[in-house]
Amino acid sequence: MQHISRRVQACACLGPSLRPFFDIIATMAGEVISLGIGEPDFATPTVIQAAAIQALQAGRTSYTSNYGMIELRQALSEHLARLYGVRYAPQDEIIITVGVSEALVIALMGVLDPGDEIIVVEPCFTSYVPDVVLAGATPVMVAARPEDDFAVRPADVAAAVTPRTRAILLGYPNNPTGAVMPRDRLEGIVALAQRHDLILISDEIYDRLVYGVTHTCLGALARERTIVLGGFSKDYAMTGWRIGYACAPAVLTEAMLRVHECFLMCASMPAQDAALAALREGEEAVQQMVRTYDQRRQVLACGLNEIGLPTAEPKGAFYTFSRVSHLGLTDIEFADKLLREEKVAVVPGSAFGQSGSGYIRCCYAQKMDQIEAALDRMASLVRRLGA
Ligand SMILES: Cc1ncc(COP(=O)(O)O)c(C=O)c1O
Repeated sequence: MQHISRRVQACACLGPSLRPFFDIIATMAGEVISLGIGEPDFATPTVIQAAAIQALQAGRTSYTSNYGMIELRQALSEHLARLYGVRYAPQDEIIITVGVSEALVIALMGVLDPGDEIIVVEPCFTSYVPDVVLAGATPVMVAARPEDDFAVRPADVAAAVTPRTRAILLGYPNNPTGAVMPRDRLEGIVALAQRHDLILISDEIYDRLVYGVTHTCLGALARERTIVLGGFSKDYAMTGWRIGYACAPAVLTEAMLRVHECFLMCASMPAQDAALAALREGEEAVQQMVRTYDQRRQVLACGLNEIGLPTAEPKGAFYTFSRVSHLGLTDIEFADKLLREEKVAVVPGSAFGQSGSGYIRCCYAQKMDQIEAALDRMASLVRRLGA
């Protein structure tokens, strides 16, 4: 009998895995319209690709500093100062990571002890809770409410604070709801964190993907106690490059670096060169992608409401979050039926936490004609369900 660690067993008990669902999709490849996976449908912009090709050809294929290349950290420091008015020292307040996935793990492992509680705002990205459990801490879930367009209430977070609370983890612009946190709500969270001396871990991977609203970087409001996680996967269509970053005061980055240097050592050098090119030359491509997502967002959100799936206007990321609970099926049953009968893949909301049940997430990083066809197919199912 093989021994499986209790940490991993605890993760396995956390909730329904999406793996069987994606296995079905794989067997139907070609016929299915996917609004499922949260990944840009654009190729990485050519200026960014070119930098990586050049890196490879120039033999730039070695390890870098554990913190990441200093030129990239300098460019990132300038970039964040320009966008959000918060400045991190390139020398010791920025770590280049293997995606936000790694940044999240090193942040949690860097600041949490077994027995600590961390408040996790849900619905949320599927890795948050397993990552907390793997770090040995206890996630305490707080639901953002649909009537607030999923911007969490500081008072709801306050009600979950106990003497064991160490940190709050939140991700806005949000996956899966598309919510963006208004600045005054973030200020309420900051005041709470100051009152209880809590660390804020803010996953801002979708920071550039906002539509008609402004993203507020939490680090700009509470620099001394915030770990900002950011990345290139979504903003620059670089999911497969595996590159991201964590920014925080040096006392926190030093703790994270301890984990990073023994787990990953550094992100790949060609990917770091590509990220540098993204910051220096990628702005036009970002703006173009944002314009395209915005058009699709409007078509999808309006279309979903029209066919009878109530959907709040998403202000960020590239997701809509629609209620299906009135159709007499669970979100998992609806998604399964939609896939089998109409060949449209969406993600059941319960994958993103208990408060997501009764909803489905659609990703509009998909061509417009596919979005329109998916809407027609969804309308057929909704009609058959008698709504
Ligand atoms: C909110 C959120 N955080 C982090 C990640 C992981 O990003 P990365 O590709 O940088 O590891 C994702 C990916 O879907 C995400 O949606």
